[in-house]
Amino acid sequence: YRRLRVALLGAGAVGSQVARLLLKHSGELADRAGATLELAGIAVRNLDAPREGDLPRELFTTDAESLIVGADIVIELMGGIEPARTYLLQAINSGADVVTANKALLATHGPEIFDAADQVGAEVYYEAAAAGAIPIIRPLRDSLAGDRVQRIMGIVNGTTNYILDRMDTEGAEFADVLADAQRLGYAEADPTADVEGFDAAQKAAILASLAFHTTVPLESVHREGITSIDKTMMDAARHAGYVVKLLAVCERLGDESEESISVRVYPALVDRSHPLASVHGANNAVFVQAEAAGNLMFYGAGAGGVQTASAVLGDVVSAARRHIAGGVGVGESTLANLPIVDIGRV
Ligand code: NDP
Ligand code: HSE
Repeated sequence: YRRLRVALLGAGAVGSQVARLLLKHSGELADRAGATLELAGIAVRNLDAPREGDLPRELFTTDAESLIVGADIVIELMGGIEPARTYLLQAINSGADVVTANKALLATHGPEIFDAADQVGAEVYYEAAAAGAIPIIRPLRDSLAGDRVQRIMGIVNGTTNYILDRMDTEGAEFADVLADAQRLGYAEADPTADVEGFDAAQKAAILASLAFHTTVPLESVHREGITSIDKTMMDAARHAGYVVKLLAVCERLGDESEESISVRVYPALVDRSHPLASVHGANNAVFVQAEAAGNLMFYGAGAGGVQTASAVLGDVVSAARRHIAGGVGVGESTLANLPIVDIGRV
């Protein structure tokens, strides 16, 4: 097989699992990709930090910029806006395809990054940027491209679902379960992003952009978090036959001649008989209603290092296949060239 150099930026909850699985399954991945995926190095901040996955020490570096030079595929799993944005642009401009799980970056700088990729014929893969291990980006972008999506409703943040679920089923305290979610690798580096609904809003903007073939600016997403939900409210909801869930609802409003799009994230009372009420732990579920397909449901792990690594590695295999095919004929579409429409707020 031809060798492709893979540079990994970040070895935290997700990155360490991506590195471990890349090394563990190198033979199988080579067969599927049609190329040997050579892990050229792993960029981190602190070389002495303890790591999951028993990874070879010699792979680690603090020099991300040098690692990117000469890479065929760059996987960005650092999170945050900078320096992730600069590194991704550097990778794209040096001819690499890029894989990222960084919804914060894509929801705020997506058009810039997709434009840069379009200009040099590179591709940006981001299946892990919404709903963890659940395949939802490709279904919305590719499988449903011939249909008309009317509405997406779902639980798209694992941390808040984990917290609300344990408050509901165990009567646990918010602060205790948040600490557990952090320990288990579900939460963002700054968990405010989870509990205040920023992370879900970023994912909702990405999903709505794909579903409605437009660019939904993050500022247009109505956002409420779960920090005001306390034990008393959970108990009252339970006694009334409901459970509290943080929902993302993206929908077309009005008729086709005068249509607007509404994208909202807010804690909602969900009837206990509703399928969303049985989404437990850090799982996510996304319901998609489309004109021709009808109702579709996507369910699975919404957060967690190893689970998310599955989506990242799927992207790496796709990137490798495209790379060895000369970057032609794969037909990936991006958010870049889409018109920005008015977003109706509710
Ligand atoms: P972590 O905070 O666990 O890990 C971040 C990694 O990036 C660390 O290894 C850190 O190095 C490294 N890093 C951060 N800044 C720099 C820098 N300036 N230079 C070099 N290395 C840097 O994050 P996660 O693994 O949880 O998340 C990674 C990405 O995946 C994020 O975008 C997140 O939103 C997304 N994601 C996370 C999921 C999850 O369940 N955790 C699920 C889906 C997406 P060091 O270790 O030395 O500090
Ligand atoms: N912090 C995020 C969550 C990670 O809890 O859903 C997955 O995107």
